[in-house]
Amino acid sequence: RRVAVLISGTGSNLLALVKATRDSAQAVHADIVLVISNKADVLGLERAKQAGIPSLVISHRDFGTREDYDAELTRHLEAARVDLICLAGFMRVLSVPFVRHWRGRLVNIHPSLLPKFPGLHVQRQALEAGETESGCTVHFVDEGVDTGAIIVQAEVPILKGDDVDTLTQRIHQAEYWAYPRALALLASGAVSLPPESKPVSKKN
Ligand code: GRF
Repeated sequence: RRVAVLISGTGSNLLALVKATRDSAQAVHADIVLVISNKADVLGLERAKQAGIPSLVISHRDFGTREDYDAELTRHLEAARVDLICLAGFMRVLSVPFVRHWRGRLVNIHPSLLPKFPGLHVQRQALEAGETESGCTVHFVDEGVDTGAIIVQAEVPILKGDDVDTLTQRIHQAEYWAYPRALALLASGAVSLPPESKPVSKKN
């Protein structure tokens, strides 16, 4: 499988995915062939460069509408013959046409146990809700925000005295296991999204 990873920042999940695809023991039958960032000068781009993976900066500021931006993404992804897109800290909501176009081939990692705590600032939300555990979720992307079908989850405890930083760190460790695991399942075809159900025609 030819995989693209979309980032906006640090790219530590990108690094975990790269390592997994290059470690024969993990049997992840995928190659990361392209990294796209919507921001220049982020650590994730440096990590891509060090790994020898082609990268592109496509800034959303250069496009008038979300759809135009996303169409440019698709143009580059198709030119690179990508068949799976992993969002890894890509801080942009993708348009409905983009999500539909890549349905079943577009996945995201989110730092909570979905369906709990979708959206932003989720570690704070989990702490304030008095949860005793949190974790991460790798899921297919659909038209909603963090609502798509779940592929892999990993749990971590929330410990007394945790703050946003300590919890974020612990969730990150779970992510470095969960995302490669999900990629392995997707790349082998063990997990896929069923075809969209057709509306049932109503009689009478
Ligand atoms: C991760 O916590 C991921 O769950 C969230 O953004 C963060 C990205 O971190 N969507 P990194 O850039 O991979 O280090």
